[in-house]
Amino acid sequence: MAYAAAHPKEHCIGIDIASDRIARAVRKHERARLPNLHFVRADAEDFLAAIPKGARLTAIFILFPDPWPKRRHHKKRVMTHEFLGAAAAAAGQGAGLYFRTDHEPYFREAATAIRAHADWKESDPAQWPFEEPSVFQKRAERYFSIAATRR
Ligand SMILES: C[S@@+](CC[C@H](N)C(=O)[O-])C[C@H]1O[C@@H](n2cnc3c(N)ncnc32)[C@H](O)[C@@H]1O
Repeated sequence: MAYAAAHPKEHCIGIDIASDRIARAVRKHERARLPNLHFVRADAEDFLAAIPKGARLTAIFILFPDPWPKRRHHKKRVMTHEFLGAAAAAAGQGAGLYFRTDHEPYFREAATAIRAHADWKESDPAQWPFEEPSVFQKRAERYFSIAATRR
């Protein structure tokens, strides 16, 4: 919501798979009344796949995704080679991808996936375009960020 308020000319879509999170965001949004902001309850990859052809994302933020720390649950992690491919297909050239987590092993895995992906080029995380701590960032003792640009 803070991003949408600061970028009134951009269409912003917040997504989460959990309906209670989306319901809470919608309640806040009703008070803020930002016409350029929408919330959608969706799985991240399903959402990317449903973006109409011709629409182009200019920035994708993946903030504190569930780390699924147990090895047998790693396959549930959002940040995968396939996700990066779907994000690239929905993103215009020069679009930014911004990933942040407080779980260091997940950060290393995500950074490896981004660096190995042909569609994305790692960029300087100091160029993070907007800072407003999310709920989980406020709870985190420390966190790790990686940014990339669509080739
Ligand atoms: C640790 S919380 C972070 C919430 C928020 N992004 C923040 O930074 O405060 C992780 C969120 O990811 C959502 N999530 C998990 N798997 C997802 C998926 N496949 N697609 C979209 N959201 C997902 C969960 O419902 C949960 O709300």
